[in-house]
Amino acid sequence: MALKVSAVSRFAIFISGTGSNLNAALEMRDHVDIGLVVSSRKKAIGILKARRAGVPVHTLSSPVDWKDLTEVLKTHRINFIFLLGFMKILPEEFIENWRGRILNIHPSLLPLHPGLESIRRSFEEKTKMGVTVHEVITEMDAGNAVLAKELKDTQIFKRYENLAESENEIHLGEHRLVREVLAKWNRAVILS
Ligand code: GRF
Repeated sequence: MALKVSAVSRFAIFISGTGSNLNAALEMRDHVDIGLVVSSRKKAIGILKARRAGVPVHTLSSPVDWKDLTEVLKTHRINFIFLLGFMKILPEEFIENWRGRILNIHPSLLPLHPGLESIRRSFEEKTKMGVTVHEVITEMDAGNAVLAKELKDTQIFKRYENLAESENEIHLGEHRLVREVLAKWNRAVILS
């Protein structure tokens, strides 16, 4: 199923943590609008990054009122959602309401290692390592890949030598992929 690309893409970025991927997205505001940052945690460091960039922030209540969130997204004229380190499971009804308009970044080469701890698992099992941006469907980490990049050994970096180094390389790879997806977004080529 092709993702729908609207004329003016206005994203909400969903976060839960440090927001390093949010930072990468904020660098791409020449290409797409970022109209809102939604955080699942009140104390997420990423909130400071959003505020510093002048982007409105909405912090989810606990338990989350998903209907209220949809109203908040409408108020901010959001038409796409990018999950960047968002650690809450979206309910099926919410995903169905936004079908074709939610992306997620995952630190493995899907379908390898969906779910949690995927960098450590690919490191320990010595499988291919990489990053995937995929469409969100009700099955976790199973939607169509929009863009993916494999992490390769270099003269100075070996994938299966040091987990912390590999994690760092994967996170840098995530930031590059976020920028690449948003840079290509408005051309709508990769998505049809
Ligand atoms: C990222 O590695 C993402 O893949 C994972 O959580 C991490 C969040 O990092 N789900 P940040 O908050 O973007 O720095």
